[in-house]
Amino acid sequence: MAVLNLVALIFATLLLLLRRSSGAGAGISSDTLNSGGNITDGETLLSASGSFTLGFFSPSTTVPTKRYLGIWFTASGTDAVLWVANRDTPLNSSSGVLVMSSRVGLRLLDGSGQTAWSSNTTGASASSVAQLLESGNLVVREQSSSASAAFQWQSFDHPSNTLLAGMRFGKNLKTGLEWSLTSWRAKDDPATGAYRRVMDTRGLPDIVTWQGSAKKYRAGPWNGRWFSGVPEMDSQYKLFYIQMVDGPDEVTYVLSITAGTPFTRIVLDEVGKVQVLLWIPSSRVWKEFTWLPRDACDDYASCGVFGLCNVDDASAPSCSCAVGFSPVNASEWSRKAASGGCQRDVPLECDRNGTVTTDRFTPVHGVKLPDTDNATVDMGATLEQCRARCLANCSCVAYAPADIRGEGNGSGCVMWKDNIVDVRYKENGQDLYLRLAKSESGKRGHVATILVPVMASVLVLTAAGLYLVWICKLRAKRRNKDNLRKAILGYSTAPYELGDENVELPFVSFEDIAAATNNFSEDNMLGQGGFGKVYKGMLPDNKVVAIKRLGKGSRQGAEEFRNEVVLIAKLQHRNLVRLLGCCIHGDERLLIYEYLPNKSLDCFIFDAASKYLLDWPTRFKIIKGVSRGLLYLHQDSRLTIIHRDLKTSNILLDADMSPKISDFGMARIFGGNQHEANTNRVVGTYGYMSPEYAMDGAFSVKSDTYSFGVIVLEIISGLKISLTHCKGFPNLLAYAWSLWINDRATDLVDSSLAKSCSYSEALRCIQIGLLCVQDNPDSRPLISSVVTMLENETTPVPVPIQPMYFSYRGTTQGTDENTSSSMNNMSLTTVLEGR
Ligand SMILES: *[C@@H]1O[C@H](CO)[C@@H](O)[C@H](O)[C@H]1NC(C)=O
Ligand SMILES: *[C@@H]1O[C@H](CO)[C@@H](O)[C@H](O)[C@H]1NC(C)=O
Ligand SMILES: *[C@@H]1O[C@H](CO)[C@@H](O)[C@H](O)[C@H]1NC(C)=O
Ligand SMILES: *[C@@H]1O[C@H](CO)[C@@H](O)[C@H](O)[C@H]1NC(C)=O
Ligand SMILES: *[C@@H]1O[C@H](CO)[C@@H](O)[C@H](O)[C@H]1NC(C)=O
Ligand SMILES: *[C@@H]1O[C@H](CO)[C@@H](O)[C@H](O)[C@H]1NC(C)=O
Ligand SMILES: *[C@@H]1O[C@H](CO)[C@@H](O)[C@H](O)[C@H]1NC(C)=O
Ligand SMILES: *[C@@H]1O[C@H](CO)[C@@H](O)[C@H](O)[C@H]1NC(C)=O
Repeated sequence: MAVLNLVALIFATLLLLLRRSSGAGAGISSDTLNSGGNITDGETLLSASGSFTLGFFSPSTTVPTKRYLGIWFTASGTDAVLWVANRDTPLNSSSGVLVMSSRVGLRLLDGSGQTAWSSNTTGASASSVAQLLESGNLVVREQSSSASAAFQWQSFDHPSNTLLAGMRFGKNLKTGLEWSLTSWRAKDDPATGAYRRVMDTRGLPDIVTWQGSAKKYRAGPWNGRWFSGVPEMDSQYKLFYIQMVDGPDEVTYVLSITAGTPFTRIVLDEVGKVQVLLWIPSSRVWKEFTWLPRDACDDYASCGVFGLCNVDDASAPSCSCAVGFSPVNASEWSRKAASGGCQRDVPLECDRNGTVTTDRFTPVHGVKLPDTDNATVDMGATLEQCRARCLANCSCVAYAPADIRGEGNGSGCVMWKDNIVDVRYKENGQDLYLRLAKSESGKRGHVATILVPVMASVLVLTAAGLYLVWICKLRAKRRNKDNLRKAILGYSTAPYELGDENVELPFVSFEDIAAATNNFSEDNMLGQGGFGKVYKGMLPDNKVVAIKRLGKGSRQGAEEFRNEVVLIAKLQHRNLVRLLGCCIHGDERLLIYEYLPNKSLDCFIFDAASKYLLDWPTRFKIIKGVSRGLLYLHQDSRLTIIHRDLKTSNILLDADMSPKISDFGMARIFGGNQHEANTNRVVGTYGYMSPEYAMDGAFSVKSDTYSFGVIVLEIISGLKISLTHCKGFPNLLAYAWSLWINDRATDLVDSSLAKSCSYSEALRCIQIGLLCVQDNPDSRPLISSVVTMLENETTPVPVPIQPMYFSYRGTTQGTDENTSSSMNNMSLTTVLEGR
């Protein structure tokens, strides 16, 4: 209850603050400087609610005499200076003064009265005032008009190294006005530094970080929804988002923040890294939520022309050539230097008078699109027209859709000439169509024809070289397949080749399935989830099965689907639902599973009557069973499968109430359409998703650990994670943590378990659950440790640390996963410590 008191206290303080500012009486309020007024070093302007301060500061402790005029976030002081006026003309003493002049607006004078900086505001008059707005924007405006259109000058038009909500970034092509970020020279030196982050408007809009005159990092071409290399921008769980204007006069975006999101700033730091920082009020720290560039493949053109970059282990980029290309300099590549790039194995058969060509295109799936600086963009063409145009133009080497909004293949296209650079594989990347000569197909045959006429002495050397090339190609080929998977699923797998398995999986005919399900009648429907509808059916051999009819939207071809299903079907464990067969019929994709007569776990634990059917020993058995099933998926099977959507409705119970995890491998089967809303969704479900997955799209086996922790707490408490008010707490995690930290964890145990509960086991499970939902993925245990802790009473259980958790507003408490897409009001908060 101490927690509540603290919350109340903070609220009261906030209210007080608000009242104080809005109730300010006559005269000059502290956020405004009237014409002729001034502030001297030591004085400040404070925005209406006190969030921002304008004043003089010295960033460096070693040179305290250098004084700057800047704006900072009041709560964190000059550690987070958001804007600096005189960054390149520091004052030499603390005798500076900021004057509001009726002729030029704001003027910063040094001790001798010299102007160190001026806002050069045209149109300023005796009735102009300067005001520090609650958004952090310092504006010069007519006293009588506060409309933003009438600002005579605003600091938001002159960003330093920080982007705040409401700020514009980009270019006005008509006026030439540009909004960009420039780094500081050093952490304690606001002078203009080496890095600049600008909107590149050549080709498709792209955000480029420059280091001097060299490109360092590109966000990737704007595709109508996100910048090609940053698909996580499109996340429906976003805390902040951008409103892009991509028009003939203006290419800009405005950073916007979802209501309830803590104060956010985006900083281009002194080493060229873009950081997204959130202010966590309870702990009074800036938390780095995400940053760019993220890995070595983000370095501009690290694999040269026609090279493809892939991050196998985050430390080193590994380059491959696109199909039909080989390294320009194999010895260079063998030393892992690939900047020389790749060249064609077979020259294009382009008819030089540009009419007929026999070239073809091969898709490269799931990439950040190449630099479009020299590319041609046609927003009016269809993809088919682009293909034809590219084919008819000998200098065109690749094309891709320019705008992926809408159905089908998207609209518009971009065509590259001569070469392509800076392509990397990326989860949820796009498809790029690369031009190849038609004869580029029997590559090994081609190698052999070269070999024949070569003289014996040269042969050995050449063979060695070719062997290298061949190995590279093989690797590239394998990587391409692995990458496809990686692009779709975001993780790669143990090495294996697709399609080399002896298929034992029965392929059932669509007619048989239609007959088995009474032509997919409503009566046979067992449920409906994010991936499609599930029907009960009886096959001709009288076997009762559950049939999942996948929703439209799997972009996988029949062959890929078949390969994935074969792999998934080989996963067998008693805590996994068995996949028995599949069916491909036109664009229909169906999966046949063993039928489990009991329903899913959520139907029991959350139901007032059914919950009594699961006593403590059964629930403990279920917890252990789920952990074992998960262990098998994570590390005991031949593949590493991250479930990504583990939740109580995906845990089915068999006749003995043994748990069986369902929907595993769906992410693999379903492919990468997670942006296409409900039915095509592969993303997880609200509440079960770990913070790093929800916010950054970053996931690992530890994301499943998190979901498992949530499930454990749900099983014990009978309370849903989706509840917005959980016994006076924002959600189940906050409630569980509070009980645990106050030595009252046993209060969490559902009353239906009162008679059967072993409180020592339950306590152990609660502690393990809290360990699993810790904020930092590295702190969460691997499932293998969880299994050991659950099975062995003497294994010590580490002490969890306080979880950060999401609380959801506007949550529909539906039973269907589909509801998750409608929840986008989210706020982030931490559990207040109640001592
Ligand atoms: C600043 O304002 C004070 C009065 O408020 C005035 O005496 C002083 O001369 C002003 N300084 C400058 C540099 O305008
Ligand atoms: C501060 O001092 C340096 C060197 O003494 C001088 O170059 C610079 O112009 C001075 N700056 C101002 C604003 O007076
Ligand atoms: C204001 O104008 C002066 C003189 O034209 C120029 O030197 C200075 O850089 C301008 N200041 C800003 C902030 O643009
Ligand atoms: C390949 O690269 C190495 C090292 O950079 C260089 O010494 C060699 O001359 C290059 N070979 C060719 C054919 O360019
Ligand atoms: C140009 O195109 C015509 C008709 O397709 C063809 O007959 C001719 O050989 C081509 N010329 C060259 C130089 O390829
Ligand atoms: C675009 O063309 C210019 C001039 O030929 C060249 O310097 C530059 O590297 C090209 N950019 C890309 C991304 O290919
Ligand atoms: C071929 O494509 C290049 C670049 O896409 C373009 O500059 C050129 O005008 C095109 N040529 C023809 C004949 O369309
Ligand atoms: C998408 O493109 C493919 C070939 O590139 C074409 O067959 C198909 O009809 C297109 N689909 C739509 C909806 O335009």
